Amino acid sequence: MSQSLWSPIVHELTPYVPGEQPKGTGLIKLNTNENPYGPSPKVLAAISGVLNDSLRLYPDPTASELRQTIADYYHLSPNQVFVGNGSDEVLAFVFQSLLVHGRPILFPDISYSFYPVYCQLYGIDFRVIPLDEQMAISAKDYFGPESTGIGGIVFPNPNAPTGRLLPLAEIERIVAGHPGVVVVVDEAYIDFGGESAISLIDRYSNLLVTQSLSKSRSLAGLRVGLALGHPDLIEALVRVKDSFNSYPLDRLALAGAQAAFVDETYFEETRQRIIVSRAALTSALISRGFDVIPSAANFVFARHRQYAGEMLYQGLREQSVIVRHFNKPRIADYLRITVGTDVQNQALLLALDRLVAP
Ligand SMILES: Cc1ncc(COP(=O)(O)O)c(C=O)c1O
Repeated sequence: MSQSLWSPIVHELTPYVPGEQPKGTGLIKLNTNENPYGPSPKVLAAISGVLNDSLRLYPDPTASELRQTIADYYHLSPNQVFVGNGSDEVLAFVFQSLLVHGRPILFPDISYSFYPVYCQLYGIDFRVIPLDEQMAISAKDYFGPESTGIGGIVFPNPNAPTGRLLPLAEIERIVAGHPGVVVVVDEAYIDFGGESAISLIDRYSNLLVTQSLSKSRSLAGLRVGLALGHPDLIEALVRVKDSFNSYPLDRLALAGAQAAFVDETYFEETRQRIIVSRAALTSALISRGFDVIPSAANFVFARHRQYAGEMLYQGLREQSVIVRHFNKPRIADYLRITVGTDVQNQALLLALDRLVAP
């Protein structure tokens, strides 16, 4: 009854459904691409260091120290850096500030399922560009008839949920070929083996790169994301942020995120471990009859040649192993499996062995 009090748009919304965060323990959780290793001990120390009376004060609304640290890390200037409450929030600001033009935007048919949700929220029309037969983004497909009169382009690199990487030269082709609109490259997983498009930022004022501290820096619980691009693009994001919430990052997040960029040793060590485990997991899945899309992310996207995705997903779940399954066209037979510790990956393989005949 009281739903009649809702704004009209709320009736229409189909919100994003995040991966399950189960309450119980004892589950092998390989469903939301979290990092299996904890955050750097230096991050924990930095957060502890601000657990004091300073919490009575608002945090720095401009996040100036963190932005300076990130700028130094990527050899940019602070006015090319924006930070927000997870890259989901950063992306929401991007859609609102840079992609609402009354013209459709483009993204791949198989991609991060939050993009159509933002489109609905902000009233942005969109067209999807199918991945090719190899489940890869093909740059040339962004120059077909669908690309005329567009208001922007967004895609993850590596793509999610496929994990497949688009080479930098192909990204440059898309960015250079669409100078009149913003091209957003969502690099949530770039640290697991991809070449970042950040190196193109100084040459292309229409390129915006977003990143996350949730994956490679193991801080999904702290909620920090960032965007990098031309100062004019960053200013648009700041304007939206300051019309919404001046303090998207609290004092704990600012301190922890900063320490995460400083502790390069820990970052290198843990991401290399995941890259090595990904290779081992990929071979083990292939030897069990899976086709595995080559992944540059901290997950693999795999389809068994005989067994349906839904059956495997349920069968794993019954054995307390949670992976992600999308009941959607083209990908219903795939499982998206986060690369865990070697112990977790082994438990997954054991559970699969009970479901898949050798
Ligand atoms: C492609 C992609 N982009 C962005 C995000 C959001 O990351 P976060 O909001 O944790 O920074 C995710 C999370 O899974 C993702 O898969």
